[in-house]
Amino acid sequence: MSIITKSFEVFCGTGGVGKTTLATSRALAQASNGLRVLLITIDPARRLKDLLGLQGDAIGVVTEVEVNNIKLDALLMSPEKTIQRMAKKNNTPDLATNRIIKILSRPYGGMNEILSLVEVQMQFDSGKYDVIVLDTPPGAHFLDFLEGLGKIKSFFDQSFIELFNYFGSKTANAGKKVFGFGIINRVISSGVKKLLGYLQNVTDANFIEDFIRAVQVIYQSKDAFLKGLSLQDRLKSKSECNWFLVTSVEQGKAQEAIEMKAHATHFIHQDHFLVLNKCLEQEMSEWNPEQKNLKALKASLDGREKELKKILKSSFPVVLEFPEVMSLDPVEHVNNLTNKWKSYAVL
Ligand SMILES: Nc1ncnc2c1ncn2[C@@H]1O[C@H](COP(=O)(O)OP(=O)(O)OP(=O)(O)O)[C@@H](O)[C@H]1O
Ligand SMILES: [Mg+2]
Repeated sequence: MSIITKSFEVFCGTGGVGKTTLATSRALAQASNGLRVLLITIDPARRLKDLLGLQGDAIGVVTEVEVNNIKLDALLMSPEKTIQRMAKKNNTPDLATNRIIKILSRPYGGMNEILSLVEVQMQFDSGKYDVIVLDTPPGAHFLDFLEGLGKIKSFFDQSFIELFNYFGSKTANAGKKVFGFGIINRVISSGVKKLLGYLQNVTDANFIEDFIRAVQVIYQSKDAFLKGLSLQDRLKSKSECNWFLVTSVEQGKAQEAIEMKAHATHFIHQDHFLVLNKCLEQEMSEWNPEQKNLKALKASLDGREKELKKILKSSFPVVLEFPEVMSLDPVEHVNNLTNKWKSYAVL
């Protein structure tokens, strides 16, 4: 069994199944094969930081790491840092200083997913990498976001363009105190009007100005956002992206993985992989207890794992099995799983 390396490799799955550990070990297996690898985690829990021994100041910055003499680049996503990079690259300094955008680009501020795509796209454009491995947060949220991208796109395409054509015709003097409440009042729907009226009452007048300015600056950076969004075509493409849906024997919930796949039917193409982590089959085959209750325990564990595999194999085109590593040390887990990836003949 071999797995062809693609430009992008995405790991997703529910909480605690081993996404970060498997993504890290996959990245190391590829780097040990001489590929130029960037490992990005958009998981705000940042376990990768501990796994790779990264310091606090490495957050949001591409950092070269070395594990067992294998070198690769790693990036712990920080939406704020991505905004700063975008501002620099697109020469829109206000993007990084506007207080509304600052709030939106906090780790749970709502722009996390879109900024992750923008970041991945920017890193891909740098041409420095053969493969970008993406470790996503737990749950289907990221997949739901990808599924909903069309809506965001049409927002940029239609609503924004309308609004900004209007602003553009009103003034060429962006950034100054020229966009009063009056202008926005005339062009937007009554719901938003009510909201802005409310905001004006409960906040200071500067807030409304910051708000309008935020919308404007986001629009100025729209090419970067749209380019980030266009990454979806690559992620959908069989030749450019490997999808790894991760689940674990420990959790034993085949249904969760099946539901996860259903969340992104338009994204996860047919060549995806179901990764079943923490398999006990190998260890179990070497365990021959004498005691009756232990025999029963073994039979029960064996039975559960077999049943799970049966369901998964009937629901997914390829099931990759990874063993439970008998250690409490996460670094051991990574090292052991790296070897397992290598046994899948990384091409
Ligand atoms: N094959 C394995 N054998 C033993 N332990 C493992 C294995 N894979 C992962 N682990 C351990 O399980 C725990 C959870 O793994 P990990 O953090 O990679 O999961 P995750 O899916 O990324 O979690 P989250 O959803 O919180 O991001 C960690 O302690 C990790 O070291
Ligand atoms: Mg994780």
